[in-house]
Amino acid sequence: MKGAILWFTGLSGAGKTTISRLVAERLRRQGYRAEVLDGDLVREHLSKGLGFSREDRDTNVRRIGLVARLLARNGVVALVAAISPYRDAREEARRDTLADKAHFVEVYVKCDLATLAARDVKGLYKKAADGSLPNFTGVSDPYEEPADPDLTLRTDAGTPDERAAEVMEFIARRRLLADAAREADVRYPDY
Ligand code: ADX
Repeated sequence: MKGAILWFTGLSGAGKTTISRLVAERLRRQGYRAEVLDGDLVREHLSKGLGFSREDRDTNVRRIGLVARLLARNGVVALVAAISPYRDAREEARRDTLADKAHFVEVYVKCDLATLAARDVKGLYKKAADGSLPNFTGVSDPYEEPADPDLTLRTDAGTPDERAAEVMEFIARRRLLADAAREADVRYPDY
């Protein structure tokens, strides 16, 4: 049995959570086991108390990576949605996953900063701009773009559903889930 980690990285508000949730739904409908590890949620529990220094972000990413690997080695598709701004930390997650003989896919969820600031769903870009939120990724803190992502999703235009479909096509094309756990007997409703 071999699961996979789909690691969604990108700036806050780019669509990591939304797209990974849609992909999880689609996978579950096909009988796969899928779990989303979302940065915002992890920070309420597993990483409670951590801040946004490089050290704390690396710790957060390592914790998420560990849980994702535990899931993947049990045949689950672990979808990580975390800014994970540092290349080294993402590469460490990739190395550790491959050492476990599970698949690792780095998905760069890419959106222009101007578009993110205009959307500003959580109001954080405004706070970052007026100085009330320091060390905000992409504005006053680094974001190291993936050098060679397995998949890049542009989220400046189009719909989350279209991007989720792109991920599903990628999974099928690479036959990533040939050895993943599947609930053969579960009947999923048509949507
Ligand atoms: S990571 O850098 O450690 O990977 P993570 O994805 O867990 O970040 O959390 C990012 C979320 O924390 C953002 O979506 C945002 O809601 C919130 N947040 C609060 N402060 C910051 C900050 N200084 N930089 C980035 N995100 C922040």
